[in-house]
Amino acid sequence: MYLNAYNTHIDHLIDDWRRLMGSNGFDAVVVHAGSNQTYYGDDQEPPFHAYGHFLRWIPQNDCEHAVLVVPMAAKPILFWYAPSDYWYLPSDAPDFCEEVFDVRTYAELDDLRKELRELTRRFSNVASLGQSITSSDTDAENARIKKLQRQLDFRRAFKTSFERRCMEAATACGVLGHRAASQAFSNGESEYHIHLAYLEASSQHEADLPYPSIVATNRHAATLHYQKYDREPAGKVHSLLIDAGGKAFCYHSDITRTYAAAENDEFATLIDYVDDAQQEIIQEITVGKSFLDLHESMCHKVANILCQDKFLTCSPTTAFEERMVDAFFPHGLGHLLGLQTHDVGGRLLDDGVVESPPHNRYESLRLLRPIEPNMVFTIEPGIYFIPSLLKRWQGHHDFNWEKIERFLDYGGVRIEDNIIVTEHGAINLTREAFNAANADAA
Ligand code: GLY
Ligand code: MN
Ligand code: MN
Repeated sequence: MYLNAYNTHIDHLIDDWRRLMGSNGFDAVVVHAGSNQTYYGDDQEPPFHAYGHFLRWIPQNDCEHAVLVVPMAAKPILFWYAPSDYWYLPSDAPDFCEEVFDVRTYAELDDLRKELRELTRRFSNVASLGQSITSSDTDAENARIKKLQRQLDFRRAFKTSFERRCMEAATACGVLGHRAASQAFSNGESEYHIHLAYLEASSQHEADLPYPSIVATNRHAATLHYQKYDREPAGKVHSLLIDAGGKAFCYHSDITRTYAAAENDEFATLIDYVDDAQQEIIQEITVGKSFLDLHESMCHKVANILCQDKFLTCSPTTAFEERMVDAFFPHGLGHLLGLQTHDVGGRLLDDGVVESPPHNRYESLRLLRPIEPNMVFTIEPGIYFIPSLLKRWQGHHDFNWEKIERFLDYGGVRIEDNIIVTEHGAINLTREAFNAANADAA
C-alpha cells in the first residue's frame, strides 16, 4: 500500500465529496459496499464485486456488508462486518483505514445495522448510495441522490496520484501474464493452457481477474469477448488474440495483444499496421479533444489500412462514408478504466449534469467526453473478419472476397493499451510496463 499517497487521496475525496454534498443539500452520505446473493436453492454465490464508490475509499473487495458514512463535519466512519464464522474466514478492516476513518467492527449484522440507523438519525439530509439502499420516500429526493451519484461517476474518471500508482501496478501485473501467455503460444499450447500460464505469471486466480480473459486462437478471435478455452491446440494454428488484465488494490488494467503463428506472413503485416495506427492515434491525444473525434480519426485509419492492404478496392473515403469500415471495426476505440474495466461516467458531460445517449453511428463507443488531464482510458483499435457482419456486404464489388476469406482463419487483430492523460499529452502505461519487464528479463 502506498500509504502517503492513499492518505492524500482520502483528503481529496473528503474535500470533493463535501463540496458536492453541500451543493446538493446533504449533510451526510452513506455508502454501502453491497452484499452477494446465493444461487437459487444453494449456499454458493458468484464472485462478489463491491460497489465502485465504496472501493474508491476502501480499495479492498473483501468488504461485504461494510458501510462508510461520510459526514459533512466529522471524520468518516467505517462500519465493518467481521462475523465469527467457521465456514469462511472473515477479513478485518484494512490497516490503512485506521488513521483516516473511525473504524467500528461488528460480529453481528443486526448490531451493525442498528448502530448505523442510530448514527444516521443524527443527520437531517442523508444520501444513501450503493446496492443495499432502500429508495427514499419522494421522487424529488431520489432524483437528488441520483444526481449526486452521477456527479461522483463523472469524477471517477480523474485519477489521483494514489490511483495512478494502483493502475501502474495493475498494468505491471497484466504484463507479466501477457509475457507468459505469448511464450505459451509460441510453445504451441492450447487456449486453456495459455490461460493457465497467464494466471500463474500474473499471480491471479480466476475470481481475481478484472474480467474473464479472452484467449482466442484462429477464428475465435472474431468473437469479441470469446469466453471458451479449448483444451487442445487447433490442428493448424494461425493466430492468437489475448485480452486479459490485472488488478492492484481493486484497480483494473485491460490489455490486448495479437500474435501471428508464422513470422512475417500476411497476418503479421496486418498486426503491424494496426499497431502503427494505434501508436499514431495515441500521439493525437490532446487535452480538450473529444474522444469521439479520436474514434472517428481511428475509423479513417482503419479505412486506409483496409484499402492499402487491398481488403477493399474502393477509396478510403468511400469505405468510411459507406460504413464498410464498421464491418471490420465494430467496437469503440476505448473506454474509461479504473475500479471497473468499463468504468462509469463515459457518456456524462458537464460535470455529470447531462448524460449523452449512445452515438447514433458508434453505438458501442462508451466514451464521448472531452479528454482531460488525469483520465485513464484504453486505446484498442481492431480489424476483424466476422462472418455475421461481412454477410451484409456479401458479393459487394468493393470487397476483395478472395483475400477476406483467407483472413477468416485468423479471426482478427486487436491491440489495447492503457493510457493516462497529463497536461502535456498521453503516457502509455502498458508500453512502459512492457519495456520495464523486458529490461528486467534482459
Ligand atoms: N476486455 C474488454 C474490453 O477490452 O473492453
Ligand atoms: Mn477494453
Ligand atoms: Mn480488453
